[in-house]
Amino acid sequence: MKKNKIKNKIEGFSKLTKYEKIAWVNKTYFQDDKSSLKQIEQYWVNDSDLQKIHDEFSENTISNFLLPLGLAPNFLIDGKDYTIPMAIEESSVVAAACKAAKFWRKRGGFKTKIIDFKKTGQVHFIFNGDIDKLKIFFNKIKRKLINDCEKISQNMIKRGGGILDIELLDKTIDLDNYFQLNATFDTVDSMGANFINSCLEQFAKSLNREALIHEPFSINEKQIQVIMSILSNYTPECLVRAEVSCPVEDLESEFNTEGFAYKFEQAIKIAKSQKERAVTHNKGIMNGIDAVVIATGNDFRAIEAGIHAYAARNGKYSSLSDVKIKNGVLNFWVELPISIGTVGGITSLHPLVKWCLKLLQNPTGKELMKIVAVAGLAQNFGALSSLVSSGIQKGHMKMHLINILNALKASEDEKNKLIDFFKSNVVSYSSVEKELIKLRNNEF
Ligand code: MEV
Repeated sequence: MKKNKIKNKIEGFSKLTKYEKIAWVNKTYFQDDKSSLKQIEQYWVNDSDLQKIHDEFSENTISNFLLPLGLAPNFLIDGKDYTIPMAIEESSVVAAACKAAKFWRKRGGFKTKIIDFKKTGQVHFIFNGDIDKLKIFFNKIKRKLINDCEKISQNMIKRGGGILDIELLDKTIDLDNYFQLNATFDTVDSMGANFINSCLEQFAKSLNREALIHEPFSINEKQIQVIMSILSNYTPECLVRAEVSCPVEDLESEFNTEGFAYKFEQAIKIAKSQKERAVTHNKGIMNGIDAVVIATGNDFRAIEAGIHAYAARNGKYSSLSDVKIKNGVLNFWVELPISIGTVGGITSLHPLVKWCLKLLQNPTGKELMKIVAVAGLAQNFGALSSLVSSGIQKGHMKMHLINILNALKASEDEKNKLIDFFKSNVVSYSSVEKELIKLRNNEF
């Protein structure tokens, strides 16, 4: 065991060429197996310039990792038509989006609204002096902090954004001597991570510099100690709302389930009141959100972290979506913090991301927030409407059947026959395997 550990250790891996890295990994973990090499190489693209773009996105790249890119047409959002690109491996997500799009299209489509559009970041620092003196000091240097970022902000200001404000926050209730410079930003069409972090690091430098020459502090150089400067992925002030509404009777007839609207309402109330269900309920919403966020080249980890924190904003993890039934009309909505961009990052580098943005008619950052929120709401509608009517497995297993057949290496002809057979039979791995064997033995 020990011997193995020593053998597998490598220094300077990042300095090796791509081919050397692959050779090392293949020798170390795959006994120089040629088929393992093939698996890595088969995902390289022929166009070497295109491959180089992908190689340079990240460190130690050896290949590309493919995800299916699906399309969900027929979305009507604020009166405008969209075909939404979704990068996701989970079968049935795109199908559910398509179904929801069609249903709501006939009922006026999705309506959206940007509630707020601010992002924040903090310089976290420790101060162990007189708080009143710190407040005076901050008010004195606030303008300087912003002016020192002039060069960093130039382009953002030209595009209509920039630093909105900086405030001093006393966080000593949370941690002894802990304060923040809490800054708000408008990053227009970009997610703005680099812009925000560059501003914050400049604020920290200016804060240190000014503290050293500020007389009441200069006696003790260590009175202000910056710990770190970083944007926050919690963006409750970058908030979008998406909603739909229709008569209750439309739902009952479409889903052929008595009391459908009541059950739908109860399903959301359960997710609002109970975290075990809320997490799964919200995961369904994220199926739609992540798929669009990935297809448009945005950071889905940031979105996930921010949205889940928002779901717990009242001290208890709860449903992100909500519902109201009044006078025979069901109103269903979601409010989500979505900090994303349509410029910057990989949006102009990744050819498929560029293509997806073009498909969405080159949306502004705010428009993309709306589209993403709609994808989340549509997905939640799809999941809940199945859960409270036919159950989720019918649709899931239908889509999953293809995966099982592929795993069992079924031919196209075998697939067609078994897809037909399982239209009226229950799908499970073992039942598919059994029927495939029967088919191959001519016993089908
Ligand atoms: C599966 O990916 C998502 C669902 O579990 C969501 C839900 O339960 O609401 C179907």
